Amino acid sequence: MNITVIGTGHVGLVTCATLAEIGHRVVGMDCDEDKISLLERGEAPFYEPGLTDLLRKHTGSGSLRFMVREADALSEATVVFVSVGTPPLANGEANLLAVEKAARSVASYGRDGVVVVEKSTVPAGTADRVALTLARERPALRFDVVSNPEFLREGSAVSDSLHPDRILIGSASKRAADVMRRVYRPLLRNGCRFIETDIATAELAKHACNAFLSLKISFANALANICERAGADVVSVADIMGADPRIGRAFLDAGLGFGGYCFPKDLAAFERVAARLGYDFSLLNEVARINEQAVESVVGKVRDALWNLEGKRVALLGLAFKPGTDDTRLSPALDLARRLLDEGALVVGYDPQAGASARAELPQLELAGDPYEAAWGAHCLVLCTEWEEFRALDLRALREVMLYPVIVDGRNVFDPETMRELGFTYYPTGRPAIIPRNRKRLGPGGGPNENGSLSPARRFSRVGVARA
Ligand code: UDX
Repeated sequence: MNITVIGTGHVGLVTCATLAEIGHRVVGMDCDEDKISLLERGEAPFYEPGLTDLLRKHTGSGSLRFMVREADALSEATVVFVSVGTPPLANGEANLLAVEKAARSVASYGRDGVVVVEKSTVPAGTADRVALTLARERPALRFDVVSNPEFLREGSAVSDSLHPDRILIGSASKRAADVMRRVYRPLLRNGCRFIETDIATAELAKHACNAFLSLKISFANALANICERAGADVVSVADIMGADPRIGRAFLDAGLGFGGYCFPKDLAAFERVAARLGYDFSLLNEVARINEQAVESVVGKVRDALWNLEGKRVALLGLAFKPGTDDTRLSPALDLARRLLDEGALVVGYDPQAGASARAELPQLELAGDPYEAAWGAHCLVLCTEWEEFRALDLRALREVMLYPVIVDGRNVFDPETMRELGFTYYPTGRPAIIPRNRKRLGPGGGPNENGSLSPARRFSRVGVARA
């Protein structure tokens, strides 16, 4: 099929590459000319495992092309995916200007019978708006609008797209749902569920999934606080909970909390959708508040270990919001870096992929070329992102180069017994701290300062978004 994808951000570009991989003729359209020329050469503008290979393969064969001109990109397409940014407004609501603009482009240049697919995460009711725009702009055009939310994770986006556990289609038209089944037919083997529903249900389900996963993480982080106070181990508690198939172990890892461009944004947007519909979903505000506290709790541990932070050197291992990506948008590691810098600490970071984007976002951050360089002369080291390479660190060598042997483990990567044997002062998350006998814990107990409730919207606006 001839498919055009409007918007070549993380989701849009992976959608382009994987639709080409399953046999379609795909055009990626974007208004950013520099990006389009990069893509035409088969290069990806961000790090995503497996993406460059697919881009090279399909731009090389001609089954994947990139264009700026709307008329060229849209006139042949049977299906148009709208995969544009929906950045948050100051109040947390999604800004849908780009979605409206995409609808106008389809109205101007789309062919008769086109199926317009809402791929961006949008509030319930957006498809109706898109349909109304198309109908007003070009009354003679026959079209259908469907909702097809993505569930791909950064760092495994290509594999998630080629091996999905479910494909969700919200549609009011049997014809459009059949077209979407044809689009995805090559993926409908291997137990992948094809779920057809109405449009509002599909739109809402995406927000519900991300909000619920955020809720699980914040539940684990709240537990971590209690475990620290009770002398219990949050990892074991999560394992025990996860052994119950009704709960499941996934997304119960306590730590620095969630970041990235989806969870914080979608949580805030979903709370706003509920408020607009007259429902007070304040549970979501609490999820965001606990997430905010997770970073503050780590700052508390650094303070407990170092007393005053002014002039102290703190090394951060991992700057991306999670392993496997170079994305630092709303990364808890950068939130932590900002708070440490605010208190006068010198912060040096290392990340296998995200150094450049971290530096662009936070120029005061010093960058190191490897973990040992980051740790050199540091009063304290904080493990922020659980990259695989950090599990294999030579901890003896790390201890040698540090000024004080203090580690705060924001992702529970290290084994507490090993840390004790090596003589580290070790603050894990939600597990008993290891503090040498001659030094009792002095600070505020690792617990965060009570700083009142912070809504998802406020959390979002505080941190700011550096990469659109
Ligand atoms: C998420 C959703 O998983 C995906 O389905 C959606 O389409 C886009 O948003 P992504 O943002 O790539 O994907 O990251 P994800 O792997 O879900 O992790 C989100 C954040 O939660 C990361 O910061 C991660 O470190 C954190 N996390 C995850 C935890 O703190 N604890 C956990 O147990 C799991």
